Amino acid sequence: MTNRFLEHTGAKYPIIQAPMGWIARSQLASAVCAAGGLGIIETSSGETDACKAEIEKMFELTDAPFGVNLPIMFLKDDAMLAYICDSGVKFVTTSAGSPSKFIGPLKEAGIVVYHAVPTVEAAIRWGWDGLIGLQGGFVGMEGFGASAPAEALYEHFGITADAVVEQALARV
Ligand SMILES: Cc1cc2nc3c(=O)[nH]c(=O)nc-3n(C[C@H](O)[C@H](O)[C@H](O)COP(=O)(O)O)c2cc1C
Repeated sequence: MTNRFLEHTGAKYPIIQAPMGWIARSQLASAVCAAGGLGIIETSSGETDACKAEIEKMFELTDAPFGVNLPIMFLKDDAMLAYICDSGVKFVTTSAGSPSKFIGPLKEAGIVVYHAVPTVEAAIRWGWDGLIGLQGGFVGMEGFGASAPAEALYEHFGITADAVVEQALARV
């Protein structure tokens, strides 16, 4: 079996364990790895030293790939980010806020980053910002979703040729 997630992570099965403050530590994450899923270590507890120790423990407990979650709004400073970049961890999920300032350092360290979002709209919005940059134009869904024929949805979300041209002209 293979798919993009397995290629990105090296896990055996496309199953990722949710990061959970205090709960998602090496005991849980290494068990998930042993079963072929992708274990994730939490850092939302804010217990930087304990989380670093849990990550070190993961390298002892499993040879399988695992990840670490960086929940932006819960991080007090850049200590965990700096540690992760030098740690040998290969996969990070970011969550709870804009990951913009994390992406550069994590990518430079060769780490695959997935960002967790609460809605499809947020994923599209952030994907666009991530690919095009915050200075880029955006035409599309910024509010909550709707169900209707495609033409009606384009109209509803203002996805029209004129809107795209307007965005492009504003940047020429
Ligand atoms: C107790 C608990 C702690 C959680 N802590 C985190 C966290 O630290 N970081 C994070 O991104 N999500 C956290 N979450 C959200 C989960 O990772 C997961 O995204 C969410 O529970 C939705 O998945 P579910 O529908 O399978 O529960 C937490 C969830 C629970 C229940």
